[in-house]
Amino acid sequence: MVNETPMLRQYRRIKAEHKDAILLFRLGDFYEMFMEDAEIAAGILEIVLTSRDAGREGRIPMCGIPAHAASGYIARLIESGYKVAICEQVEDPKKAKGLVKREVVKIITPGTLTDLELLDEKNNNYLMGIALAGDYYGLAVSDLSTGDFLVTQFPRADQNLLVDELHHWQPREILVAEELQEEVARLARLTPALITPRPAREFQPTAARERLCAHFQVVSLEGFGCQYLDAAVAAAGAVLAYFQETQKARLEHLTALRTYFLDDFMRLDLFTRRNLELVRTIRENKTPGSLLWVLDRTVTAMGARLLRKWIEQPLRHQEEIEERLERVEAFYLRHDLREEFRGLLKSVCDLQRLLARLSCGTVNPRELLALGRTLALLPRVKELLGQDETAALAEEVRDLDLLPELCSLLTSAIREDAPASPKEGNIFCRGYHPELDKLIQATHEGKAWIAGLERKERERTGIKSLKVGFNQVFGYYIEVTKANLAAVPPDYQRRQTLANAERFITPELKEYEDLILGAEERRVALEYDLFLELRQRVLDDLPQLRQIASILAELDVLATLAETAVKNDYCRPVITRERRIKITAGRHPVVEKVLPPGEFVPNDTLLDGEKHRLQIITGPNMAGKSTYMRQVALIVLMAQIGSFVPADEAEIGLVDRIFTRV
Ligand SMILES: Nc1ncnc2c1ncn2[C@@H]1O[C@H](COP(=O)(O)OP(=O)(O)OP(=O)(O)O)[C@@H](O)[C@H]1O
Ligand SMILES: [Mg+2]
Repeated sequence: MVNETPMLRQYRRIKAEHKDAILLFRLGDFYEMFMEDAEIAAGILEIVLTSRDAGREGRIPMCGIPAHAASGYIARLIESGYKVAICEQVEDPKKAKGLVKREVVKIITPGTLTDLELLDEKNNNYLMGIALAGDYYGLAVSDLSTGDFLVTQFPRADQNLLVDELHHWQPREILVAEELQEEVARLARLTPALITPRPAREFQPTAARERLCAHFQVVSLEGFGCQYLDAAVAAAGAVLAYFQETQKARLEHLTALRTYFLDDFMRLDLFTRRNLELVRTIRENKTPGSLLWVLDRTVTAMGARLLRKWIEQPLRHQEEIEERLERVEAFYLRHDLREEFRGLLKSVCDLQRLLARLSCGTVNPRELLALGRTLALLPRVKELLGQDETAALAEEVRDLDLLPELCSLLTSAIREDAPASPKEGNIFCRGYHPELDKLIQATHEGKAWIAGLERKERERTGIKSLKVGFNQVFGYYIEVTKANLAAVPPDYQRRQTLANAERFITPELKEYEDLILGAEERRVALEYDLFLELRQRVLDDLPQLRQIASILAELDVLATLAETAVKNDYCRPVITRERRIKITAGRHPVVEKVLPPGEFVPNDTLLDGEKHRLQIITGPNMAGKSTYMRQVALIVLMAQIGSFVPADEAEIGLVDRIFTRV
């Protein structure tokens, strides 16, 4: 092969810039991997390791995967803890002079996934940046696939704070400056996160602040509440830089930073989280059997992710808790309203992830169709929840932007049967664009003419077995069997010879063929352009769309908590600032579900700052001691996420921390 050496040289140059990733090098319909990458990937992917002639150097290891099926393979590499750099041909091989230009267009890492096939629908996929500025750790947590971007900072003196946050967020990947790498690796050793060291300059607060301001197009971070939190800003800057480097996109869906403070939430350490089995069980490490499992009746993936967040981050401020309880109660009281609302949610798409894909440039026509359908539901959602007499829900939807213009644009633009790829045409409805309509018309007319040709030519030539057909290489043809060749008219021109037939074309057929193929090619190109234009149009409404997504997610969770409260017979807790927990006929939310109905024996609890400061619980093995202790903790925790609780009555004095070692 003549080009082999220049191609390998190109490969080596690109690989040198992406040493820590497996480089998928596009060659025609395949992604190829070479040398060490090939050896690693062949093992993980269970594909054949071959070799390729590298000229003077002899043969080098290589393996390949078909481009159309790449995402499954990429998922496995990521699962195995590798990063993957995608190197594409960035010019048309037909038009290239010499070697085709290639560039890395995207780097996929565990903490930067946006491809739906690589993500768990009900789980966030967090990347965490950890910075050190002065005596503070700064933390930035972001899920690129949903646009969540949160920051905080806290004193380094209490390293347990960092450990607790690591277990709370469970990031897939952690960015740290090299000098912090060892420390963080030690603190994060019980999490499965991949640790990615980054250059110290990316954690430099001034540079980070500038990068963030430039991205969010603001002059200061005041509006996000973190202008003076140097450590938090440093961490966020590093996260943003990493996203920019790996995605090579503008990331418009990262619209804001949200500053949070550890003091706003109940503090739960790793052992407490595990012991209370909040989102997964101790024994099997799975969701079934956890508190999340009992509570989760969410309809949308957005709701499922948010419910998990609420459970992992119970509130401490009474007003916020009451606000949630108020809304849960509104849904609780109005069965009809809850039912219809949950029915509507069934047709709501995963807006958050869709918007992320929109801004990373990977959204497809079907997803925009789904977006249009979701928007079409909004007027009814607003009207329905507006009927709530308590006004708790009405208020939630008061500012819901219906985006009527975008909605009617999308629903009238995209065909019901639109394909998953924007590069195949057949995306847009008739009437969307005059030029496109003309091309479609031309194709139809051409095809109709050809459809009539067979009958016409059979009549003209008297050959009953004459056929009109099409193939990719030779285009349209008229086929005549050898036996009938004598009857072929003089205007037939030979195109192809088969074993027992000849294929012909006529000047007229050629004309229609050019018309059809030309129109189709132009149509596909035009539809692609129109799609990019439409995508841009949707991006204009991104802030409103993000708001719609978060309102729908929240309503889904609130309606879910109400639904669960009804189904499981929970009561609304009374939240106080007293040092007092009084529970009448409390139950363990999970154990009561696992036992046959009615078998769980409810128990009372009274704890206060005076005569009931302590309980000593004794009993034989398997008497229910641990269950009782966990039940009290869970009831308090449920109350503080804004849920109803499994009891006849519950008065909960707010707590700031729960400890358990059962
Ligand atoms: N209030 C209850 N009503 C009915 N069944 C219960 C109740 N509490 C616990 N159980 C059942 O009893 C089993 C044992 O409960 P638990 O583990 O809490 O007991 P324990 O007293 O902590 O036991 P050990 O002494 O072995 O630690 C549970 O798995 C559950 O099925
Ligand atoms: Mg026990």
